[in-house]
Amino acid sequence: MPDIKESITSGLEVAAPIRESKEWETIFDTLSELTLVTDPDKRVVRCNRAVIVRLGVSYRHIIGLPIHSIFFGKNLPEIDPFAPGVREVNIPRISGDFLITNNPLCSAEILQGMVHVMMDITERKKAEAMVRERESIYRILAEHSYAGVYVVQDGRFRFLNSNAASYAGYTREELLNQKTGILVHPQDRKEENKNAGDMLKGKRMTPYEFRIITKDGQTRWIMETVTSITYEGRPAILGNSMDVTEKRHREMHDLHAQKLESVGQLAAGIAHEINTPIQFVGDNIHFMNDSFQEIFSLMSLYDDFKKLDTTNSTECGALRDRLLERMEAIDMGYLLEEIPRAIEQSLDGIQRVSHIVQAMREFSHPGGAEKTNFDLNKAIESTILLTRNEWKYTTELTTSFAPDLPMVRGYPADLNQVILNLLVNAAHAIQAKLEAEQGEKGRIEVITRKVENEVEICISDTGAGIPPEIRTRIFDPFFTTKEVGKGTGQGLAIARNIIVHKHGGRIYFESETGKGTTFHIRLPLEER
Ligand SMILES: Nc1ncnc2c1ncn2[C@@H]1O[C@H](COP(=O)(O)OP(=O)(O)O)[C@@H](O)[C@H]1O
Ligand SMILES: [Mg+2]
Repeated sequence: MPDIKESITSGLEVAAPIRESKEWETIFDTLSELTLVTDPDKRVVRCNRAVIVRLGVSYRHIIGLPIHSIFFGKNLPEIDPFAPGVREVNIPRISGDFLITNNPLCSAEILQGMVHVMMDITERKKAEAMVRERESIYRILAEHSYAGVYVVQDGRFRFLNSNAASYAGYTREELLNQKTGILVHPQDRKEENKNAGDMLKGKRMTPYEFRIITKDGQTRWIMETVTSITYEGRPAILGNSMDVTEKRHREMHDLHAQKLESVGQLAAGIAHEINTPIQFVGDNIHFMNDSFQEIFSLMSLYDDFKKLDTTNSTECGALRDRLLERMEAIDMGYLLEEIPRAIEQSLDGIQRVSHIVQAMREFSHPGGAEKTNFDLNKAIESTILLTRNEWKYTTELTTSFAPDLPMVRGYPADLNQVILNLLVNAAHAIQAKLEAEQGEKGRIEVITRKVENEVEICISDTGAGIPPEIRTRIFDPFFTTKEVGKGTGQGLAIARNIIVHKHGGRIYFESETGKGTTFHIRLPLEER
């Protein structure tokens, strides 16, 4: 504790009123700012307690020291006592940053000295540095992120990193404050809005894909996630996006390849399915050919009848006998019964063939980029038809389709491929079980129904089941437990991609080893 009385020795007139006042002394000493008074030679004549405490020296030690040796270190310029103002200084004895205010102390226009008030701004500077650092980290994160990052408020871009702009071939400046809609492919605008809305409401968790039109008119695929945020005090949307055009092309190629492969694998079965009706249609036509030969031979007797002299009763009688004999020989009663049946059966066979051909046509439909509304039950029905030969020897297949199932919006050709993959897997699982332990035929059940705002497809089999140790891997691309030629491990990977990424749906399964497996697909329905 410095002895205030010591300072009386300075004899500075201007300090006299303060010294006289106990009150002023107390105020002076209570100030948290470091406060010093210097004489015209810039030497300290007085200081408050804060100086002593912060510098950790005695009062005696400080008095008489040149001010600049305290605050600026030896090599720094001296303070100009005539330069009042505020500036930053540092104190070499204690680390810290200070803001110094110099005020001349004059009496009768003669400079008596200076008052120096030092405010410790170390914490403030630290906080400022932290904010600066944080800002620069955020800038680095946003700028160097692989993703396109942007903020949308009132439907307009309020912030974009350069990736977000460059995906679309623009500069940031060109897109800033523009409506986001200008980028989105016109056919995807509704869908994109809905997906983003669902995501903000927490109804959708997986990123969605949509098309944008670039500045030079190209179409590119973007995968996006959005989060609701507050930007400058108002609600906004933070978007994260990635250009997935190449991935999309690769997937389309994979899907196409898998489609061809499964068509190849099914071809023998489909040929067989077509061959059976063709065979009996052929047999029926042969039968009808023979029958009509005989009927024609009967008709030729009727021809004789026209030329007959009806007055000649012997000739009449003879012809009648020949007619009756002929009718009996060809078993006319049998033909009258069998021919309509053969015709009916043939028409039926031709219809079967045409159904298969129709199913094939639907199945191999290239499936454009546009989503359409379609009848899921019908699509499943035709896929079942195509796979019939895969399961019919080992399996009883039953369907239970919700008759009032709403139309589903999506890519029918792709969904057919998913159903096909699951049906073939189910058939394989049943075959595997029958090979291991001979038993009765297996069962596959295909169910469709509406559950709340989704459509569910369940495909259950009584096959071998999925062993627990591979359950986490079955959706991985190229994971297979089947021998070469029977499986490539692409089926479920493609199924998941189609369901999750292209339709915003879910695919999951339950399985019990040795008992069977059920795959569930859930597809979101459009809000009406
Ligand atoms: N219904 C099922 N029952 C039993 N195992 C299945 C079933 N579906 C799929 N699996 C398992 O998942 C693996 C991966 O299936 P998938 O992706 O369709 O490829 P692949 O059929 O070509 O092997 C299969 O090899 C099989 O082990
Ligand atoms: Mg498969």
